[in-house]
Formats: sequence, structure tokens, C-alpha cells
Amino acid sequence: MKFFIDTANLDQIKEAQDMGILDGVTTNPSLMAKEGIFGDEKVKQHYVDICNIVDGDVSAEVISTDFDGMVREGEILAALHEQIVVKIPMIKDGIKAIKYFSSKGIKTNCTLIFSAGQALLAAKAGATYVSPFLGRLDDVSTDGLNLIDEMRTIYDNYFFETEILAASIRHPMHIIDCAKIGADVMTGPLSAITALLNHPLTDLGLAKFLEDHAKNK
Ligand code: G3P
Repeated sequence: MKFFIDTANLDQIKEAQDMGILDGVTTNPSLMAKEGIFGDEKVKQHYVDICNIVDGDVSAEVISTDFDGMVREGEILAALHEQIVVKIPMIKDGIKAIKYFSSKGIKTNCTLIFSAGQALLAAKAGATYVSPFLGRLDDVSTDGLNLIDEMRTIYDNYFFETEILAASIRHPMHIIDCAKIGADVMTGPLSAITALLNHPLTDLGLAKFLEDHAKNK
């Protein structure tokens, strides 16, 4: 399973990259705003800065909601850097835009997926990645993992090459459960990724090894 980090924070992206386990980055307009990145030129430069840190795909989301606007914006974003993936919302014009970009060989990430039907449509349009929002489904008492499971079955039934990018990850168990189901990619905050490191028995065991080694001196 590929590991993407879901942030526009350059320090966190660098930290994940330095661990050697990072395969890409996802952003969205809310994450850009959280870092205080506003204005077309600043946003574009920020995407380039992210691409220069990470070796892998970087999702950059369009703001337009009409086909022409999404195509115009997506072409500008894709031209910024070869690692850019155009992130497009799951709406009717978005599906048309994904089909357009896929026919041009430009990678896309269809975002805001909350049902198997949406996921099927996005794959048929040729999306490179499709992003089911696991945490936000869990937030409304709906089993987000079940959607990822349904997507795995549907994509495997028809040999879709579209990758399932499990998004809206909130904690390490989400990552482990996604890996068990067979999501192709997970994107989550740095805190959920680094939480995978932790186990009290590891800490206790290491302390004991170091203590015993010190006795031999
Ligand atoms: O980037 C899309 C998705 O990962 C958002 O996550 O935590 O805002 O639901 P969250």
C-alpha cells in the first residue's frame, strides 16, 4: 500500500519524506487555507514546493465546478510539475473533466467519494485515483471501511486500473484496516502515520536491551 500524506504543511511533508516511506501528497483547498496559502500565484508556487520535497504524485484540487473551468484550471495545474495529479470533485462536470484528462494522459484524483456508485462512475471515466472519505463516513455513523471493501470488489471484478486512495484517515487503525482490505493508497495526517511506530512493549524491550548492554561495560 502506498502512503500519501494529507497536508499542505511543508515541515510535515519533509518529516514524512525523511522517514523514507512517503509515496505522495494530497492537498485540498481547506488544507491550503490552513497553511495560510491564498492567491493563485502563491497556491501554484506551494504546489511546486511540495513537488520538490516528495518523490511521487501530488494532488492539486481545482476550484471550478463547471467543465470548462475545471479543464482550464487542471491544465494549468498539470503544467506546473510532472508530479501533479489534478484533483476533481465527484460531480457530473467533474466526470466529464476526468474523461477529458484521462484521454490526454493527465493523471486525476476524483475526490469526495461517499458511495460505490460514485466510485464506479469515476473509474469508468478513467480516474487514476478515486478517494473515498473514510473518516467523514464514520463521522455520520456509516461504515467507511465497507465502502472501501465494495470498491475493491467492483474494481477487481472489472480489472479497473483506477487506484483506491483511502482518504479522510483519522487514526492508525484506519490505515491497518485499509491495508487488510487492499486499498492501493492511503492518505492521512502525519500523526496517524507516526502512530504506527508505537507499542509500549517495543519501548520496554528497547530500554531493557540498552540496560543489559550497559551492564557489560
Ligand atoms: O483530502 C481529503 C480528505 O483526506 C479530507 O480528510 O480529515 O478533512 O475528512 P478530512
